[in-house]
Amino acid sequence: MLFRHEIADVAVNAPAKLNLFLKVLGKRSDGYHELETLMVSVDLYDTLRARRGQSEAISLACFDAGLPAGNGRVLPPADAGNLVVRAAAALRKYTGVRFGVELELYKRIPLAAGLGGGSSDAAATLLLLNRFWNLDLSRAELHQLAAGLGSDVPFFLGSASAALCRGRGEIIEPLTIRQRLHFVVVRPATGLATAEVFRHARPSNTGLTGEHMAAALRRGRLDQTVICLHNTLQEPAERLNPEVAGLRAHFARQSLAGHLMSGSGSSYFGLCRSRKQALHLAARFKAARLGDVFVTSNRP
Ligand code: C5P
Repeated sequence: MLFRHEIADVAVNAPAKLNLFLKVLGKRSDGYHELETLMVSVDLYDTLRARRGQSEAISLACFDAGLPAGNGRVLPPADAGNLVVRAAAALRKYTGVRFGVELELYKRIPLAAGLGGGSSDAAATLLLLNRFWNLDLSRAELHQLAAGLGSDVPFFLGSASAALCRGRGEIIEPLTIRQRLHFVVVRPATGLATAEVFRHARPSNTGLTGEHMAAALRRGRLDQTVICLHNTLQEPAERLNPEVAGLRAHFARQSLAGHLMSGSGSSYFGLCRSRKQALHLAARFKAARLGDVFVTSNRP
């Protein structure tokens, strides 16, 4: 997370993520699914800014800061339906402070896309307000609040740009990836709701594990990384949203190193051999009007 300071005003960038591996292991008694996922954060960011409020209210305004054109260009709600507001409220409840804040969220990460935008915004809120309000909460306390807000939120709290995540996603094992991975990403016109995709998921019987993927990445072996690409949620997502199946067919016809749906969808990414290839394919996908298209890389 990158902090930028001004007087009584502070901003933080919230990155998107891609899941290179997501294996559903089984359903738990609390309704969540036990999983193993490998996430990398990428260089597409929302920006969150905090200003001292005039009152004790938590206010939020959302702005389009370059959401990709097309139907994915939807702003999130600016009320308690937004994880940013819920994160600020959770911090106040936990600490008992009554400070207000004026928050501004500049959105670039498409919504309902499996790119972790809402979760990353929530983590950014916790980190930002912990400093802005001088709360001095520990990493462990922030982690506990993050896990209460959503399964993916703890990943974005850490400074690691990649991690193997277990449990319902909140148990984080940071990972160092030295090579630069180049992706072309398409978010089709329609999104997917995470809860619904999980509801239709069955445990995977693949022999692949997150550890296989982590080992391939640690070795810097693109060929092995590609073999380990897996997402158990892709099959139910394709049934719920035919656009995802259409994207898979389209990506399969390209000379990509590999391709996969991210998270619970509906975004689909190609793992490219170079940035040049990613840019070339992005132009082709834009011309084919597959959806919102962008090129991104993992963060160092
Ligand atoms: O944790 P989060 O609120 O982001 O999850 C949204 C929904 O996705 C949950 O309510 C649950 O239905 C589903 N989910 C799941 N297992 C997970 C993570 C999410 O079933 N590990």
